[in-house]
Amino acid sequence: MNAPAIKSSVFAKFKTKNQVVIRDFSKKDLIPIRHFDFKFNAADLNDKFYLHSEFASAYFEALSIFLTFGEDLVIETARYHRDFLTDPILKQRVTALIGQEAIHSKIHDEWNDTLIEHNFPVTFYRFLAKQVFDHGLLKLPQPMKLSMMAGIEHFTAVLAEYMMKHESVFDLITDDDKTKAMWQWHMLEESEHKDIAYDVYQTLSGSYVLRMSGFALATLVIFGGVSAGAVAIPFLRKPSNLIRPAFWKDAVRGVGLLFGPRDGVFGSTFGHILDYVRPDFHPNDHDTSEYLVYYKEKLLTRKDGLLARYLTKEIIPKVKAA
Ligand SMILES: [Fe+2]
Ligand SMILES: [Fe+2]
Repeated sequence: MNAPAIKSSVFAKFKTKNQVVIRDFSKKDLIPIRHFDFKFNAADLNDKFYLHSEFASAYFEALSIFLTFGEDLVIETARYHRDFLTDPILKQRVTALIGQEAIHSKIHDEWNDTLIEHNFPVTFYRFLAKQVFDHGLLKLPQPMKLSMMAGIEHFTAVLAEYMMKHESVFDLITDDDKTKAMWQWHMLEESEHKDIAYDVYQTLSGSYVLRMSGFALATLVIFGGVSAGAVAIPFLRKPSNLIRPAFWKDAVRGVGLLFGPRDGVFGSTFGHILDYVRPDFHPNDHDTSEYLVYYKEKLLTRKDGLLARYLTKEIIPKVKAA
């Protein structure tokens, strides 16, 4: 049995009546791969970069450490499934997704290295994440990994949309320009490629039950794993935080910044997160195209744009016949 035939038999088990197959990708944009050199330096790092809150920043610091493993899963899964796609545009978009995620992972790792000098438990968290991914998540069957990849990409799309819709947060996240630029670039690209994993999933599987299983797993990792890692960071770095009233005051503010129902990163986007359970959900039901045009012009196209300062190369992978 050849590889596509094996794939077909694997996916056939998961197909249901809810399958939505998108066949025409000819109107979709080609996606570029951008290279950056931020030249991170531990001395420049503001470790309370998220609105000067130690607690809220810890969430993003834990996310930064763990997401490199999630991105490596996305890369491995996307590479595997690209071979089974026949649409040349979708294949180009998958190649660009792989390239974008590879650079995210590499640059976040460079940034995470600077966290080590600020006494963050990066080495310990990398060890934990490696166990979970190498002995657990990476060993899942490919259809489940594809579903989980689509689920992870949904969370990053929600996060990106929140940031783009809250320019005052996105822009004033910190006075540390390199950290700000890294997160702004990552969020823009997460929004730019937010539909690719989902389209691959719907093309190759489409099973609603499997999609929900991957979403549940992604939720567990992002809300369970990352949150647990984030909560522990301030105490692992500085055990005296346990009895420091100023820390607890900051923690209350940080919980509000993250989970507040009106304006919190996750609290206010709960409806968007849960929209994924709608059987006919598609990432582009949440149109962010105007935000993308606005921020690309502001940050990348203008010579004095924050991202333009660090951009070293931009390439568009070629469209190849299937
Ligand atoms: Fe990413
Ligand atoms: Fe992504």
